[in-house]
Amino acid sequence: MSGAQQSIASARERAFDILEHGRRRDLTSRILDWILVGLIIANVTGTLAQTLPEVEQTYGDELQLLDRICVLVFAIEYVARLWVAPEHPLLHSLSPTRARLRFAATPMMVIDALAFVPFVLELMFPGVAAVRLTRLVRFLKLARYSPALATIGRVVALERRALLACVIILGGVMMAAAAAMHVVEGHIQPDRLGDMSKSMWWSAAMLAKIGGVELEPMTATGRIIAAITVMLGIFCFALPVAIIGRGFYEEIRRRDFVVTFAMVAHVPLFAHLDAAAISDLVGILKARTIPAGTVIIRKGEPGDSMYLIASGAVQVDTADGKVRLNEGDFFGEVALLTRERRTATVTTIRSTDVLILDCDDFHRFIDRNPQVGKQVRAVAQERKNGPVDRTG
Ligand code: CMP
Repeated sequence: MSGAQQSIASARERAFDILEHGRRRDLTSRILDWILVGLIIANVTGTLAQTLPEVEQTYGDELQLLDRICVLVFAIEYVARLWVAPEHPLLHSLSPTRARLRFAATPMMVIDALAFVPFVLELMFPGVAAVRLTRLVRFLKLARYSPALATIGRVVALERRALLACVIILGGVMMAAAAAMHVVEGHIQPDRLGDMSKSMWWSAAMLAKIGGVELEPMTATGRIIAAITVMLGIFCFALPVAIIGRGFYEEIRRRDFVVTFAMVAHVPLFAHLDAAAISDLVGILKARTIPAGTVIIRKGEPGDSMYLIASGAVQVDTADGKVRLNEGDFFGEVALLTRERRTATVTTIRSTDVLILDCDDFHRFIDRNPQVGKQVRAVAQERKNGPVDRTG
């Protein structure tokens, strides 16, 4: 590789770190994120403000200029993301062009591409106020910067069976209430309950509006059915809210920050794993930010987890001296492998992001990925054998 090619390659690597890697402690990456978030919010707010005639009259030109600046920045951002795509660990094996095409089809890149549609529409239909409102689609770009949104997505995916059960219960209740009301009052109020489609509409409205429906039941039995439907409506809607609420709380408790695919692939121990194994890890690793000077592991205590340093550094106090472990290293593996007590005390030197693998998950994972097990065992052996300043 020539000197020029090499510097382009390292610039692309750095640009990937800034744009896509999501390393939490990279200041440039955070500043860029904030600038982009600011522009998205400014663009959407400006679009909303332009619907007020007095704002449009006074600041119309300035807001139009702001929109053009946003479009330009978003275009540069889009091209830059495509340029760095071959650096993505999932796409390493593909040619740069195929990697970029594959990357362009990811949901966030599709949203980024959609953000240009309003610009094209405005060129095609200049001066049409309704077309301008399509710019609001750019609001979706914020999804990239919301770890909580990713968490909700994960919770919904994790709780899909329970949520599906809720949908089935809701459908069953709706049909039962509609059928009962149709039988009891269908002949009394044929225009509202005369067939199942009308009754279903009544029961859906009754469940969703929790009773706030104009249709009054005419009979005592009808009123009882309506009352039961209202009660069941509360239950049917409270259930999924509770399921998602609990799942969200557990996820937040489990993770101080979102574990991303790139973050896991960046750990040298996992660098050679395939995409499926890394996705597995993303699901089972917990994440914690631990302040400087905190003892994570105390010598002699039982061991229940292994730790990987996503960023930061720790100090290991061994019988033979102090050893520093940095980003990408792991520790706490010895006690898990030997099923004995911790062999050293480990303390954070500065605020450190760690990925945590529970004992059971650790053993299950190395059973499925023996080469990782072999590597961990080799490092543990070296560490047990003496003062080794070697890392994972
Ligand atoms: P464990 O015994 O579970 O808990 C303490 C950890 O410190 C241990 O696992 C190793 O991961 C780590 N450790 C122990 N000795 C050394 C060493 N000499 N060099 C680096 N790390 C060590």
